[in-house]
Amino acid sequence: MRIVERSPLFRFPAGSRVLDLCCGPGLFTVPLARAGHAVTGVDLSAPLLSRARAHCREAGVEARFVEAEMLGFAEPGAFDAVVNMFTSFGYYDRHEDNVQVLRNTHASLAPGGTLLIDVVGKEILARLDERVSLSERDGKVLVQRDTVLDDWTRLRSDWYSIEGSHAATGSMTLFLYSAGELRDMLRAAGFTDVRFHGDYDGGPYDHRAERLIAVATKGVDVRGH
Ligand SMILES: C[S@@+](CC[C@H](N)C(=O)[O-])C[C@H]1O[C@@H](n2cnc3c(N)ncnc32)[C@H](O)[C@@H]1O
Repeated sequence: MRIVERSPLFRFPAGSRVLDLCCGPGLFTVPLARAGHAVTGVDLSAPLLSRARAHCREAGVEARFVEAEMLGFAEPGAFDAVVNMFTSFGYYDRHEDNVQVLRNTHASLAPGGTLLIDVVGKEILARLDERVSLSERDGKVLVQRDTVLDDWTRLRSDWYSIEGSHAATGSMTLFLYSAGELRDMLRAAGFTDVRFHGDYDGGPYDHRAERLIAVATKGVDVRGH
């Protein structure tokens, strides 16, 4: 995965303070740190944070890690950029809690700072016929089935994985957003400039989009939120 190295969306000013919100095993934390940024990874999973620390050690880079709920995490003005990658948003059952997560990121950004948030767009899912996917990465086979719930409000993903002799299964339900809905939420959270892209090359969010990627900027005249 060379997304951070290749994507124009990750070209933050040198030495930026970057918050990787819901960092998981550090897939984005490591390359962001390698690019010279001061990265803080936040996640509620202690095992995944351990893996992220190990990945940093292996890569010879440093990052700070915090075990926390995204709903309760805010460090006012402490970051120049926040990234929330690979559908790590919309997890709370109450719509207002998901807006609060955006308010937290707005508060954590310095004026002029950028939030990059990447989810599965409602429009993309509506376009696809097939709701079952099979993928393989690093020797791990993953089968995922997505089910649209509550009149296209939520999505339940059921997954089954096999890695070596270990099999696992799980399920999660999250809010599903269109670009318009996400724009309204970002504006409600205080972001002034909100743009959308449909891929990591910075392409438009149109009928060919693969992801719903929002780039939201905190106004420079704002002192906090
Ligand atoms: C889909 S994974 C994405 C991980 C990482 N961003 C990546 O791109 O590889 C979602 C991550 O969100 C974390 N997570 C789930 N709910 C959370 C919450 N309420 N607060 C903080 N982290 C959470 C999970 O532990 C998991 O690491």
